[in-house]
Amino acid sequence: MEYSDRLLAMATHSKATTLTAQNTTSHLAQVFAQYPIEVAHGEGVWLHARDGRKILDFYGGHAVAGLGYGHPRWLAALERQARQMAFQTNALPMVIRERAAARLAKFAGLGLNTVFWINSGAEANENALKLAFKLTGRSKIVALEQGWHGRTAAAGAVTWGALEKWYGFPRAPFDVSFAPRDNPAAVGQFIDRDTAAVIVEPVQGVGGAFDVGKPMLQALKERCDETGALLIFDEVQCGMGRTGAPFGANYYGVTPDMITAAKALGNGFPVSALLLSGGVAEKLKYDDMGTTFGGGPMACAVAEAVIDTIESESLLANVRQVSAYIRGSCVIGPVTGVQGAGFLLGLKTSRPAKEVQAALLAKNILTGTSADPNILRLLPAYILNEGHVDQLSDALARISA
Ligand SMILES: Cc1ncc(COP(=O)(O)O)c(C=O)c1O
Repeated sequence: MEYSDRLLAMATHSKATTLTAQNTTSHLAQVFAQYPIEVAHGEGVWLHARDGRKILDFYGGHAVAGLGYGHPRWLAALERQARQMAFQTNALPMVIRERAAARLAKFAGLGLNTVFWINSGAEANENALKLAFKLTGRSKIVALEQGWHGRTAAAGAVTWGALEKWYGFPRAPFDVSFAPRDNPAAVGQFIDRDTAAVIVEPVQGVGGAFDVGKPMLQALKERCDETGALLIFDEVQCGMGRTGAPFGANYYGVTPDMITAAKALGNGFPVSALLLSGGVAEKLKYDDMGTTFGGGPMACAVAEAVIDTIESESLLANVRQVSAYIRGSCVIGPVTGVQGAGFLLGLKTSRPAKEVQAALLAKNILTGTSADPNILRLLPAYILNEGHVDQLSDALARISA
């Protein structure tokens, strides 16, 4: 049986939501648990499955589809740039690369006005950490418990639990200590004059849509300023409008030295960015960083189109409004509370979140889970409206607590 047919059979005949068994007919590396939906196409916040189901998507391709699927402005930018010049190396200057960097810096509005383009969240974090070591000459990183920063050597080393679970490299490339995510009074014990940088997600994604919050971020910032450590906000998941502000830094009013952005930045086209403060940027030397695909014209054209669309369609205001509506209407059925910010929300569940997720999927609503077994994670597109939320709350009301 073809792989796609197996998925289809599972979707039709089974109530299971995850497929973890090894699939001997596939040529793909069997490293992902998968949901029993084979997506044929997408439109706005809707997924159309090959078996004919129409599924309301609160998962957004894991926080990537900020504009939803097939947005006409995104498509137009992609097509225009592909026809004009699909790729060119950073060794050749291009207006679109420069213009997109200026657009991203202006969108952030934080004075982090220098942009380095790369391709993925982990790669952005890898470069941020490397710069911190180079610029400070120090040896240690502080990260937060339950934080997630990616699968590469440095990003994995600062990811909570990675060394025990999946890291794979023989050892972490530098010293890391993990501070509790909710104790501003404790940060002084972790950050000292050997600390090159502190890396933190202002709203933790994999950690359960957990809002680290202003007091904690402010305490980290103050301690970094005292000790000369650099503060890195990993906004790969919570940035690019997901909180209802451009970045978590804007949302909380705390400005770091570096921000990493990815996921919704490209709305599905691979692109990430490292935004640098003037203090960091002025110390850069040629060859400190490099990339082949980063800053490719198509990536830059889509990033520019994403920002244009967020602004021209007032999507930040929509995220704020509809997020408040979710908080007001979705504490129902098995949901006992809501945490997180904007469209990175965690619904606290009285039953295991995976069971609630399965029950929702049976009602054609796709949601995410997280490392917290009692948090159902919502990462919808910024175009989601209150009518869509009504469908979620109606479905939740029909699931037992
Ligand atoms: C906060 C955060 N940082 C980094 C990453 C890694 O991004 P990528 O998978 O693009 O390397 C992720 C991925 O989920 C993430 O959520």
